[in-house]
Amino acid sequence: IKEFGIKNEPILQYLKGSKERQELEQALKCTADCIEEVPIIIGDKEYKTKEVKYQVMPHNHKKKIAKFYYADQGLLQKAITVAIEAQKEWDQTPISERLKIWEKAASLMAGEYRQMLNAATMLGQSKTVVQAEIDSSAELIDFFRINAFFLKEATKYHPISENPKVTLNSMRYRGFDGFVAAISPFNFTAIGGNLSYTPALIGNAVLWKPSDTALLSNWNIFKICREAGVPPGVVNFVPAEGPVFGDTITASPYLAGINFTGSVPTFSRLWKQVGDHMGKYINFPRLIGEVGGKNYHFIHCSADVKSVVNGTIRAAFEYCGQKCSACSRMYIPESLWPEIKEGLLKARECLKIGDPMDFDTFTSAVIDAKAFARIKKYIDHAKSSSTLKILGGGRCDDTCGYFVEPTIIETKDPKDKLMTEEIFGPVLTIYVYKDSDVDNTMRLLDKSTPFALTGAVFAQDEKFLKHALEALKMTAGNFYVNDKSTGSVVGQQPFGGARMSGTNDKAGGPHYVLRWGNPQAIKETF
Ligand code: ALA
Repeated sequence: IKEFGIKNEPILQYLKGSKERQELEQALKCTADCIEEVPIIIGDKEYKTKEVKYQVMPHNHKKKIAKFYYADQGLLQKAITVAIEAQKEWDQTPISERLKIWEKAASLMAGEYRQMLNAATMLGQSKTVVQAEIDSSAELIDFFRINAFFLKEATKYHPISENPKVTLNSMRYRGFDGFVAAISPFNFTAIGGNLSYTPALIGNAVLWKPSDTALLSNWNIFKICREAGVPPGVVNFVPAEGPVFGDTITASPYLAGINFTGSVPTFSRLWKQVGDHMGKYINFPRLIGEVGGKNYHFIHCSADVKSVVNGTIRAAFEYCGQKCSACSRMYIPESLWPEIKEGLLKARECLKIGDPMDFDTFTSAVIDAKAFARIKKYIDHAKSSSTLKILGGGRCDDTCGYFVEPTIIETKDPKDKLMTEEIFGPVLTIYVYKDSDVDNTMRLLDKSTPFALTGAVFAQDEKFLKHALEALKMTAGNFYVNDKSTGSVVGQQPFGGARMSGTNDKAGGPHYVLRWGNPQAIKETF
């Protein structure tokens, strides 16, 4: 994309005394000092219901930052009707005009609203300044700019017309005849923007159910896009209880697609519901999902220990292991284990855990009480098992915020649930293998979970790397060689997992926006 003049949004540094730091401090103060009232938005109307909810700060859970409302079934039905109506005109809007709106939205996000987005992500989702900047600024802006670029490029394709004076072939990109439902997660503000607005870019109208725990940052995206010129009804902001939303959208004959990031059980439930309603739809709903993961770092005896240690600490513990791509299992050869162990434990000791408003914090609290209880259960399992040993961390404290220490565990059993189940927290489990057993260990890695989201291999031996690329071919949608399993960049490493990690539609890649399109091939005969 560079050759076309498209660049990823630069990451700001927030050095002491810098303008961006002062602006962010101001935005953090404003966000922390009030409880923003967030209505349901359907078309150009605001709604409030009796089902009142609050978003709190995970690192200080007594402190509310947003008040919002759940849409009930009636309002969701209304949103479907409004979306279908709005889509008719939106789909007629020339792509060039839509691209201008996306460019304006990206400029607003990169400019005057950058710190508002970062502050809401830092306080509402407990991200540190670095993690907020790469998510709610850089990645979000990149999704808007780069998906617009990919759509523009796609429209340049003209099918062959052998004799254009007699027959002229062309293609046009339409939205679906129906609506798209976007269900977005808490862990990336950027994913909220991508799931809802990319289907809209190509001509769909959307019902967006944001995550309750990313409400404020997602609401900010909605407000910015409205200001940029996305017309009423094209994206409808409808927080709702998960099953009510799922039941209502899947029961509508006009459901044209679901753009989902979240858990395996929820996506499976939606998929089944679509199957149950088959026969009443006017489209085959397009289902795109990014779901579970059990991402790994596989270390070969030729690996560079320093990059293993740095990469693993970051991949396992940045944002408390709550990135979909976070590393949670590791395979290390016996010969390197003493050195890697020493490095990991030393580095772990230095991690500063605390308030994301403190600019030195490395990691903060996990998202909510449910996540805290789930992660604690896995740590308690490690405490009580004879085949598992906690090497560092293990403390959990939810008195003021949902804090879980970055935890490193060694296991003698590579099939223990800590090595096979998704934990979605700051827990790294390590299996030490005999150097001579490298092939068996890769086979074991391949077969021990249903997931294939991200994975990394660290080795200097090129012959081994070639072999590992084949042996581990099916284990990851995003595969890293000598780099950590996290940190994909829009347009550079299109992101998505295979197997039970999702439909592998590659967010941030050239085909993603087209997956939401309903192209028409036209042959005109003269
Ligand atoms: N871009 C995010 C990562 O790879 C999803 O960590």
